[in-house]
Amino acid sequence: MVENTHVLVVDDEEVVREGCRRVLTSKGYEIATAENGKRALEILAAQKIDIILLDLKMPVMGGEEVLLKTRDIYPEIPVVVITGHGTVDTAVECMKKGAYDFITKPFQIDQFLITVGRAADKRHLELKARQFEAENIRNLYDLNLEKSRLKTIINRMANGVMVTNRNLEVVLHNPALMRLMEIAERPKGPTPISKIIKDTALIDTLKQLLGDEESEGESISQEIQLKKNILRALSAPAIDPDRTVAGTVTVLEDITAFKQLDQMKSDFVNMVAHELRSPLVAIRQINSVLLEGLAGPLEEKQQDFVSRGMNKIDSLLNLINDLLDIAKLEAGKFVQHQVPTDISNIIEEIVALMEPRAQEQGIVLNHFFENLKPVQADPKKIEEIFNNLISNAINYSPEGGRVTISAKGLGEYMEIRVEDTGVGITKEELPKIFDKFYRVKNPKTRQVIGTGLGLAIVKGVVDAHQGSIQVESVPDVGTTFKVLLPMIDNKG
Ligand SMILES: Nc1ncnc2c1ncn2[C@@H]1O[C@H](COP(=O)(O)OP(=O)(O)OP(=O)(O)O)[C@@H](O)[C@H]1O
Ligand SMILES: [Mg+2]
Repeated sequence: MVENTHVLVVDDEEVVREGCRRVLTSKGYEIATAENGKRALEILAAQKIDIILLDLKMPVMGGEEVLLKTRDIYPEIPVVVITGHGTVDTAVECMKKGAYDFITKPFQIDQFLITVGRAADKRHLELKARQFEAENIRNLYDLNLEKSRLKTIINRMANGVMVTNRNLEVVLHNPALMRLMEIAERPKGPTPISKIIKDTALIDTLKQLLGDEESEGESISQEIQLKKNILRALSAPAIDPDRTVAGTVTVLEDITAFKQLDQMKSDFVNMVAHELRSPLVAIRQINSVLLEGLAGPLEEKQQDFVSRGMNKIDSLLNLINDLLDIAKLEAGKFVQHQVPTDISNIIEEIVALMEPRAQEQGIVLNHFFENLKPVQADPKKIEEIFNNLISNAINYSPEGGRVTISAKGLGEYMEIRVEDTGVGITKEELPKIFDKFYRVKNPKTRQVIGTGLGLAIVKGVVDAHQGSIQVESVPDVGTTFKVLLPMIDNKG
């Protein structure tokens, strides 16, 4: 603490000044001396001083006057008053006026050094404290700056931002949210969510996020239909550092224009598919007339070419039919004629149809039924579900695999599982396989031809029957698709 501590000794007696200089310099202090008060003030104004040792009785300007002045101008510098014997009362008086301590002449060296050391400690501690305070102020300033920056960003964002607390009160929102929700007046303070969000599905999602104790902070995406616009809401739990859910954060984006474009694209694809279908069907008919020899007998080579052409036409027609199915599903016009339907019949027919293909690939096909009741369904469309699931199971399994189809009645629902021992699907790919045109890139299944529409159609048909579909898969072990369909309750 001693080094770099500057002591100013103010005394009219040279012996005292020099005595102090010697003792203190030997301990490492830096010394300045003044023979009277006036000189002391000059030195204080000119250089850094940490401690003042101040004699009281001096000509020109006495110690008490210096003390008063320094308390005014340099209150942070501790002053140790030097007094002769018998003037202790004056010293005490000085301490009341702001002196830090006093020492009596003649000095006892040890006592002297302890007193000066204490003053040095006090001075350094105070300097440290002041440094901390300055840093604190700077941190607060930075924090405020950061806060206002964040506020500016949130307020200027085109997307709506909404933060709720655990009671589902909106505690933060931005102008974009008010604009998207068509709310004229910005609410002040925590506001019940129902005042801002009318969509019950979104509110349910937020409740679900709040209830999830073991939340990993994953976000949930959903679409919200307003009077005119469509929004996408992305909601996530706000998780505290102690890992409890403190509230929710939702970002809302206007996707109306995107939806319109998507619709235009679907309309266009639909129109093209329609236009392609009629001429293709006509070509197919002509080819089949040729193949049947109705236009005269064909030589072997001609027969071969025409039938290869037929195969290509058939796969093109399949693609076109899939595209038209998707368009109808999206327009909600695909599943229309629902009648009580026996699912086991449908599955048996498809299994019989697929059997030769399975055998060709060395795959064993099994099926089981248990406790089934009819389902209110469109039989032709239900066929699409199992056609796609079973043909996928065969396509994406290596030789020697097993495909098992089981249908079980479970109360109000029928659960149909299509299980295979195939290549499987990774966790990352699983959420995407129901998307239109999505195909997993896997070197093991590169030879399988497809367009990635099958599962999109499956999902559409299941949804249209108020059912649900789930998939579980382990790469290189196998995949299980689980379809739930409501059964007709013949009691009711
Ligand atoms: N049982 C399965 N095992 C492993 N991967 C599968 C299975 N079923 C589907 N997939 C993966 O999901 C993707 C999408 O399947 P989907 O049936 O929609 O399309 P596709 O079979 O590629 O073409 P298509 O429209 O002709 O059916 C497939 O490309 C495949 O990668
Ligand atoms: Mg498929």
